[in-house]
Amino acid sequence: MSYLTELLNSTHKKRNFTCGKKLLDDYLHTQAKQDIKRRLSACFILSGDDDSVRGYYTLSSTSISREILPESIIKKLPPSYHNLPATLLGRLAVDINHKGQRLGELLLLDALKRSYEVSLSSVGSMAIIVDPLDEEAVRFYNKYGFILLPDSGKMFITMDTVSELFK
Ligand SMILES: CC(C)(COP(=O)(O)OP(=O)(O)OC[C@H]1O[C@@H](n2cnc3c(N)ncnc32)[C@H](O)[C@@H]1OP(=O)(O)O)[C@@H](O)C(=O)NCCC(=O)NCCS
Repeated sequence: MSYLTELLNSTHKKRNFTCGKKLLDDYLHTQAKQDIKRRLSACFILSGDDDSVRGYYTLSSTSISREILPESIIKKLPPSYHNLPATLLGRLAVDINHKGQRLGELLLLDALKRSYEVSLSSVGSMAIIVDPLDEEAVRFYNKYGFILLPDSGKMFITMDTVSELFK
């Protein structure tokens, strides 16, 4: 399977990356490499010809309590599963010099595709969870079918819904 992104490695010039959200810039500059080393998350890079970072996202495993899922989904799940396996798309950001060029959309689709294929081939996952930083991010994810989970501020999309994109 082909992807637009590759795992963060030492050839990527991440120093100059800026998306306008300090938390997400600092993460790439100082923490992403450590997180990979500690197996806390995987960081995928969309790079330019000069190895500059145009955008990135992170993926890790997570779980989701059945109580916060909508009734329409819970009723299809076996009652013995109190926590359901899911994939966390923890961060997604595009460099400000490349905003509005549909790179955010491409990165999101790349992340959905990776997560879906892993869920099919190797590690079970029934949904993708995102943790939007602010209202703008909520609007961005909402455009692609992510639904707000009550109280947590997180959003999710089921892997069943994602599978429709890649049939
Ligand atoms: C949000 C972000 C990833 C969007 O990237 P982008 O490459 O500029 O967006 P795209 O060009 O792919 O736009 C795709 C669609 O999303 C919409 N969109 C883009 N940014 C948006 C935002 N901040 N809020 C709402 N919608 C947005 C676009 O209008 C477009 O919609 P359309 O299909 O109606 O034309 C980028 O602005 C970013 O890095 N923001 C800072 C980090 C962030 O908030 N990340 C998300 C949460 S962790």
